[in-house]
Amino acid sequence: MTMRTHRIAAIGAAAFVALGATAWLAETASAQDTNERGRAVYEYWCAPCHAPGPGHPGTQSLQVKYNGSVPAVLLERTDLTPEAVKVFVRQGVLSMAPFRKTEISDEDLDALARYVTRK
Ligand code: HEC
Repeated sequence: MTMRTHRIAAIGAAAFVALGATAWLAETASAQDTNERGRAVYEYWCAPCHAPGPGHPGTQSLQVKYNGSVPAVLLERTDLTPEAVKVFVRQGVLSMAPFRKTEISDEDLDALARYVTRK
């Protein structure tokens, strides 16, 4: 091969990689968009009690409940189903009061449950 064909092959490969990356980014972006609502609901209603670190009663309470056998931080859990999250949110548990539909609508709860269990 001459230098010239080498360079053309390299440019072709670079273009191919760039196209692949663009498609991947577009897919990731749209998946993030559909989760954006769930994230917003979580940040507003749940993070004050379930964020990592001290001063978060949900995180502290789950630390005591499971004693480290599952992560105390809600978003790090991999064992929760969307259905379980919905039950806890609608029924409440200990100092976590039930959330009414006027606070979190069924649609918001769907998005929230998907967001919390996305791992
Ligand atoms: C006022 C603080 C508070 C808020 C706000 C709150 N939680 Fe909680 N959450 C808790 C406490 C406390 C527990 C009880 C943990 C226990 O059983 O020891 C809990 C438990 C849970 C559990 C049960 C986990 C398990 O394995 O037992 C889930 C799921 C949960 N919360 C999800 C949420 C979601 C989703 C939101 C937002 C809609 C939310 N929580 C808002 C405090 C809160």
